Amino acid sequence: MFTPKVEKLLNEQIAAEFYSANLYLSMSAWLDDHDYRGYAQWFYVQYKEETDHALIIYNYLRNAGGVVRLSAIEAPPVEFGGVRDILAQSLEHEQLVTSLIYQINSQALADKDFKTVQFLEWFIKEQVEEEDNSSTNLGRFDNFGSDARGLLSLDQELGTRVYTQTPQLALYEGSV
Ligand code: FEO
Repeated sequence: MFTPKVEKLLNEQIAAEFYSANLYLSMSAWLDDHDYRGYAQWFYVQYKEETDHALIIYNYLRNAGGVVRLSAIEAPPVEFGGVRDILAQSLEHEQLVTSLIYQINSQALADKDFKTVQFLEWFIKEQVEEEDNSSTNLGRFDNFGSDARGLLSLDQELGTRVYTQTPQLALYEGSV
């Protein structure tokens, strides 16, 4: 069971994670369209991970006696100012997502919903990684992306990223 406030915030977070997925898919499409194939691949994998995040919360909410209420997802931007703009926007977005996760955690603590506090531990750790990845991508672009050879090398490096399903998803899918 959930308090109405925690249940509402978890439902909003499902929408926020789907928005993140769409934002990164839109970035991937722009990058692919501008022939940054490696960066496009990196953001395509990021899209899939964000979908996992939404489904982890979806499954948790159902399994723990909550009611899922899906909502409209705002359209992401489709035009970007370049690779650096995308990297800067993704870092800013991850910082926003961290604040949303902290907000749910604060409410869960206030409502003594300790199962949700425990559930969110993984998301709190994941956000450290998400911000670090975004910050590193931006920093490496600033360090090495100013000439064509350096940018090509970064693009090739990021293109090696492969998707593996987030283990946390299987954990909560088990009782579907
Ligand atoms: Fe779902 Fe990028 O955090």
